[in-house]
Amino acid sequence: MTRTVNIGLIGAGTVGGGVVQALKRNGALMASRLGVRLRVTRVAVRSLRKKRDFKVPQSALTTDWREVVNDPKVDLVVELIGGTTTAKDVVLAALRAGKPVVTANKALLAFHGEKLFAAAEKSGANLYYEASVAGGVPIIKVIREALVGNRVTHLYGILNGTCNFILTKMNEGMEFDAAVKLAQQQGYAEADPTLDVGGYDAAHKVGILASLAHGFWVKPKQVYTEGIEQVAPLDLEFADSLGYAIKLLGIVKTSKPGPVQVSMYPALIPDDHVLANVSDVYNGILVRGDVVGDTLHYGQGAGRDATASAVLSDIGDAVLDLKHGSTDRLKAFIPHESNGAVRPIEETTSCYYLRLSVLDRPGVLAKVSAVLAKNKIGISSVIQPEGHEGSSVPLILMLHYAKNAAMQKALKEIRKLSAVKAKPVMIRVENFA
Ligand code: HSE
Repeated sequence: MTRTVNIGLIGAGTVGGGVVQALKRNGALMASRLGVRLRVTRVAVRSLRKKRDFKVPQSALTTDWREVVNDPKVDLVVELIGGTTTAKDVVLAALRAGKPVVTANKALLAFHGEKLFAAAEKSGANLYYEASVAGGVPIIKVIREALVGNRVTHLYGILNGTCNFILTKMNEGMEFDAAVKLAQQQGYAEADPTLDVGGYDAAHKVGILASLAHGFWVKPKQVYTEGIEQVAPLDLEFADSLGYAIKLLGIVKTSKPGPVQVSMYPALIPDDHVLANVSDVYNGILVRGDVVGDTLHYGQGAGRDATASAVLSDIGDAVLDLKHGSTDRLKAFIPHESNGAVRPIEETTSCYYLRLSVLDRPGVLAKVSAVLAKNKIGISSVIQPEGHEGSSVPLILMLHYAKNAAMQKALKEIRKLSAVKAKPVMIRVENFA
């Protein structure tokens, strides 16, 4: 007789609702593929009276997550409440009860991953997190399973659907604030959208991917993070005229054994690169393995159904663990690099786009060039739209490879020049070498 796995759902908001609906649509298909029937048995919600666009028997609902986790009938716990406080208690309680857990919670993993995976290891239950990174793109499974025979030397990811949506809309002429509002209306943005536009959400995700790829847990404070707030429509225009797009880009790279760069910042990328064409709410991740070479993974990075699809994928894995009575097939995360370290941003190298607001008068470019030369930074091209003698105009410089430390020092000196009228805007350039 086919076994039934009872699912306890913690949180029935946007993603939780999507999971219930998707299970209704494809539960029978999953059962025939997995050889196990799936049933959502208990659901913890914030309010029993809230109107929902999906059906769960009233008797299954509770406002107390403990009732769900401790229910002996519940075999598997799916945490979809977000945040790092109650969610942490939920995940730890479920794991300690020996129940596998599926979570979509990137902030929780970023901050507490090490502790949670240690708890999973101790309890013998797995903790699955496909939905925490890149929405519907199965990137965790790719790194964990499909590329198990590779060292991941480079990973580049557009990992925040909201920022990518905003940059795409700004490129089409929409104001920043209007684009943020639209992303919120469409259910892409975090409850607090500064988590998106400040780069933090994407930084949590790139930290998770770096941890998985390199076998040691990368903490949020180790991920150098910049958001998209400083990117102006002017930068998108100048980048375009120079043959580049601007994307919020996560980077995990190591050219030789040693510290790994793990960062999240806006970057100019050549507009003929495949990632330059990842638009709107889509995410794209390029993973370079030392055996396979470049692989590309693309899909909707935020939104109800895309994220629900990733949760279902994890439910499938957890169900197979339960069916076969083993969690050892391929663990969700195993630390395997005791000497792993993150390279400080100052020690990383890149090319740069620099936009200055300068007085339009003779000798300004020479002064800026002198500062750059003193810091051993070469100029590869310059754009200076004409203005009026004495007025402020943009001065755009494309700079050769240099250490970030040298660039930061040069920026401080440039800011002090009397002809420079505003804080310089520096955006790194990524050539995917
Ligand atoms: N706010 C996130 C994004 C949701 O826009 O990518 C998916 O994690």
